[in-house]
Amino acid sequence: MNLKRPFSPVLLALLTLGTVASAQPKPPTLSNDNGAPVGDVKSSQTAGENGPVLLQDWNLVQRLARFDRERIPERVVHARGTGAFGTFEAVSDEHALTRAKLFAKPGVKTPVAVRFSSVIHPGGSPESLRDPRGFAVKFYTPEGNYDLVGNNLPVFFIRDAIQFPDMVHSLKPSPATNRQDPNRVFAFMAQNPQSTNMLTHLYSDLGTPAGYRFMDGNGVHAFVWVNDKGQRTYVRYRWKSLQGVKNLSASEASATGGKDFQYMTTDLYGAIGRHELPKWDLYVQTIAEADLDKFAFNPLDATKLWPEDKLPLHKIGTMTLERMPKNYFEEVEQIAFSPGVMVPGIEASEDRLLQGRLFSYADTQRYRLGANYLDIAVNRPRVAVANYSQDGAFSAKGLSDVNFSGVGSPFQTNATYKYSTRPLAGGTQQDVIKKQGNFAQAGEVYRAMTAEGREHLVSNLAGDLGQVTNKDVKATMAAHFYKADAAYGRAVAKAVGLDEAEVARRAATIAE
Ligand code: HEM
Repeated sequence: MNLKRPFSPVLLALLTLGTVASAQPKPPTLSNDNGAPVGDVKSSQTAGENGPVLLQDWNLVQRLARFDRERIPERVVHARGTGAFGTFEAVSDEHALTRAKLFAKPGVKTPVAVRFSSVIHPGGSPESLRDPRGFAVKFYTPEGNYDLVGNNLPVFFIRDAIQFPDMVHSLKPSPATNRQDPNRVFAFMAQNPQSTNMLTHLYSDLGTPAGYRFMDGNGVHAFVWVNDKGQRTYVRYRWKSLQGVKNLSASEASATGGKDFQYMTTDLYGAIGRHELPKWDLYVQTIAEADLDKFAFNPLDATKLWPEDKLPLHKIGTMTLERMPKNYFEEVEQIAFSPGVMVPGIEASEDRLLQGRLFSYADTQRYRLGANYLDIAVNRPRVAVANYSQDGAFSAKGLSDVNFSGVGSPFQTNATYKYSTRPLAGGTQQDVIKKQGNFAQAGEVYRAMTAEGREHLVSNLAGDLGQVTNKDVKATMAAHFYKADAAYGRAVAKAVGLDEAEVARRAATIAE
């Protein structure tokens, strides 16, 4: 054999291919959950050609058992949602009002996780259904996580957390028929005139946004900012969409939902995929502690707006969403937001609705995700957690001998981080708030709408209220809208076939 003979072109090609093939890393061998290599995932182990499947096929049993446990309890509300990740950048210096580091000076950047959602309808339900929309933001700050868990609508149905289970039960499908039923919804709302403002927002086209990018967000409650001198200021938050607020009419919503029932999620993936990064500016309104009682309404009442002409919005930062989740379950289904998750410089106000929320979220998350839910990657603070919480399912704290606060303990408290203090008055009580003013703001909202907006509101309301068979409930609802604005009440009465004079008489018997 003449070794000097050059390789033939065919042989050369084959050799080159061989070299390329051997340069490609071999994919790792598929393994089972205990890490052992698996030989076959298409055939179970059987006793001969026609014999039964063997229980000893550990890989088969493991695959089925894992599949059987893929679901966790869905959120009791806000089950349907979409997440995204990005950055919040402060544009102002708020240190005179709060010592929270994320708002301390312009240019401070904080990574965020966001989850948009609908409220009542279950996971996988069409995104075109009328509902308030959740707007929850988790800030991963250098002093721990801060969650701002808001909605697109600026007010709420009720003002006391004790009513939340009743409210949600009335809005969810009937336990008997599993159908959502306006008879049940309005049987609750008719006894709760404070819902008039929220219903006026919800039945406007704000109840069917054109996409998550096109919604504003609202903290809804008053929160308290505390500065390094311990001084307290009441604040309310507002996210303003830089894409503009865009909504669908009822007929547009049903057409859009008919074509793509997940159009809001599709839109967000599309925009971020095209690098059209959605942005929101964050604003606050503030009330000095001494001024809290100076308004016709109670600023701690979540059924009320803080009027922007009296309490101007002040811009504090901008949020940009930059990426969609890499794994939906891990980063969105398992994300846990709570209004109780705060950082030094931000505290809860006395708002009775907020106070109940402070308990409810972490409680449901311990049930939904387990005791160690804050160790899940998306929930974990970006700073080391230094405490003695331990054990529970999936514990990985790695604590050693000293697991308590005492002499020589590894972690020590720092008194500068104590909660702020506030004087209290009066005794314990169970009573409604004094300044209820259930209708005035709903009337202002109605009058500020365009003629087309009012028409949509009335026809959207009539679509549901018109199905109510209890005449008393129907007339009471129309009377609430009449109290907000006589023209509004008359239009609703007419649209649902009620006698307008009778509605006006009923309205006269209802307290403001
Ligand atoms: C007392 C009144 C309320 C109670 C008891 C309550 C309770 C809950 C519960 C139990 C969840 C499920 C949490 C989870 O499984 O992770 C939830 C989710 C949520 N709630 Fe509320 N809620 C109340 C009022 C509100 C209000 C007023 C807002 C808006 C300002 C709001 C916004 C949200 C949002 C955005 C979510 C979804 C968070 C996420 O995306 O995971 N809720 N709520």
